[in-house]
Amino acid sequence: MKIAVIGLGKAGLPLAAVIADSGFEVVGIDLDEWKCEMINSGKNPIPEEKGLDELIGRHGGKTLKATTSYEDASDCNAYIVIVPLFLDEHMNPDYAALEFAFRSVGKILKMEDIVVLETTVPPGTTENLVREWLEEESELKLGEFYLAYSPERIMTGYSISRLREFPKVIGGVDEESGERAYELYKKFVPNLHLVSNARTAEFIKIIEGCYRDVNIALANELFKIAEEIGVDFYEAREKANHEYCHIHLPSTGVGGHCIPVYPWFLIREMEKKEKFSHARLLRVSRELNDEMINYWAEKIISECLKVKKPLNEVKICIKGITFRKGVKELYHSRNLALAKLLAEKGLDAGVWDEMFTPEEVEELGLRWREPEEADVVFDCFELITLVKQA
Ligand SMILES: NC(=O)c1ccc[n+]([C@@H]2O[C@H](COP(=O)([O-])OP(=O)(O)OC[C@H]3O[C@@H](n4cnc5c(N)ncnc54)[C@H](O)[C@@H]3O)[C@@H](O)[C@H]2O)c1
Repeated sequence: MKIAVIGLGKAGLPLAAVIADSGFEVVGIDLDEWKCEMINSGKNPIPEEKGLDELIGRHGGKTLKATTSYEDASDCNAYIVIVPLFLDEHMNPDYAALEFAFRSVGKILKMEDIVVLETTVPPGTTENLVREWLEEESELKLGEFYLAYSPERIMTGYSISRLREFPKVIGGVDEESGERAYELYKKFVPNLHLVSNARTAEFIKIIEGCYRDVNIALANELFKIAEEIGVDFYEAREKANHEYCHIHLPSTGVGGHCIPVYPWFLIREMEKKEKFSHARLLRVSRELNDEMINYWAEKIISECLKVKKPLNEVKICIKGITFRKGVKELYHSRNLALAKLLAEKGLDAGVWDEMFTPEEVEELGLRWREPEEADVVFDCFELITLVKQA
């Protein structure tokens, strides 16, 4: 078996490295030439991923060869696709990267090949769109090739241990596809579970994200209520949580490529079916989480009023602009949105982040500010405001 992994990002590269480490020959395909060169010279382009340096050092350029050309993978027997799926400005999925990837795979697809999608997608995508793209380009029919879905369940920073320990599901668009894909994946994913079909596997991944989003919205709402009635939310949460109650932590909202995106897949599906009320909680939770930056902006402004300076001269430092601590990713970052919101309000808001240089911050249209130079510091991860009396 020679396996191609298409998309060598934060999710795809750890997977490709783990497959190579399990003894397979792997061809990694990515449009990013710099990334391919790094990998082929044994260097890890995702340094924050624990254990990846070692795997890339061991296999990069040897059993894991990276390339920008799909043609270089024409002798593979299995194709795993894990390229991003973004939302457009109307919160509808934009399939451009996926369609490009699958049509390119379709051009090199052969009889008996196995294709697996890992990107999180709306339910039904693998059996409908992906099958259509592959059949159109390859002129083969399902049954002559096999097609399955297995969602990536990693978390950047812990991807390798997750792939080796965390339960992972896989489902075929037909029975034969499910069984063949399961047999293949079992060789590099020990904790693997075959589910009824690809649509179920797609749904499993989405509802995990929805659960998180809804529960974070609940925590945010309870946190605001606790503040209003003079209760320490953290003390109350600790004592309230037990086996059947897991109240999450409050936040500035929810960012990154995953949790804020997945509820929209179901909201839009229900809208298509005119079942608007079926996804009401998902929609409200999205709104509540996105609105949290307004709540924190108000809190920060009220702290600024304690400084003996005109409000627009108070030096604010927003500490941490990435969507999650320790991950250099700004996609849908509510911390970044909070910094921008304060600046839009005419306040002197600068930012500091351990993952960024002052130049990188300025390129984002924001001002760099060391916490020591600020009158008011808001830590986006700890949700703590520090006021230095002027
Ligand atoms: N990162 C995570 O924590 C995580 C967790 C669970 C699921 N996922 C899933 O993985 C998907 C990918 O996420 P990521 O974090 O790896 O993204 P990423 O932005 O880190 O990487 C995506 C990679 O795909 C490449 N690419 C884009 N289009 C391509 C194409 N047509 N052909 C070949 N390469 C292409 C890009 O150059 C990039 O290197 C997400 O959409 C999500 O569904 C990610």
